[in-house]
Amino acid sequence: MATNITWHGNITHEERKVLAKQSGLTIWLTGLSGSGKSSIACLLEEHLLKRGYNSYRLDGDNIRFGLNSDLGFSDDDRNENIRRISYVSKLFNDSCTFIIVSFISPFKKERENARKIHEADNLPFIEAYVDAPLEVVEARDPKGLYKKARQGIIKEFTGISSPYEAPEDPEIHLKNYDSPIEKSVEQIVKYLEENNYIK
Ligand code: PPS
Repeated sequence: MATNITWHGNITHEERKVLAKQSGLTIWLTGLSGSGKSSIACLLEEHLLKRGYNSYRLDGDNIRFGLNSDLGFSDDDRNENIRRISYVSKLFNDSCTFIIVSFISPFKKERENARKIHEADNLPFIEAYVDAPLEVVEARDPKGLYKKARQGIIKEFTGISSPYEAPEDPEIHLKNYDSPIEKSVEQIVKYLEENNYIK
């Protein structure tokens, strides 16, 4: 870390919540490629915005076009990808935005680190596991990536040649892979209502 730096700011988070008329929240979707993370995130964002909650998505594919365009898919690069997004989502959360993160985020340690980064500042962090078996996502193969991974054209592909460590105790466990995407969104919304994040 750099030296001779100072943290600035005069509005506390509690004051900001009052002024913004909303709390922040991070909903962290993790799951295999093709499990439905991005589709769920899009629909959830729309739902929350229409209910009046300032919401925004950070999507793995999208972020790799810009902020994280220097990163590939080695373990180290994925860790750096998730480290950066953990801090970005914390900043959005601190700004009193509902932030919906949809990254494969395959490693438990980095997801736990994301949680710690939020919880150190008392910012709510909800892990939602988009649980779809490899056979299912491989059969879907919406981008043809699994086929290329099996052929060895794409290296270090999650679930094929790079590990995915499933969450053991996520706040939300979505197992609706054989149902329309709306069902997963409903499950998340129900959780948010039941836990008083939204009214
Ligand atoms: S990670 O593991 O969290 O750093 O990955 P993420 O930033 O979410 O990016 C995943 C998307 O990148 C595409 N892609 C790959 N995924 C996994 N492994 C490899 N090797 C790979 N190469 C490209 C793929 O489209 C992922 O998007 P989703 O939406 O998950 O299918």
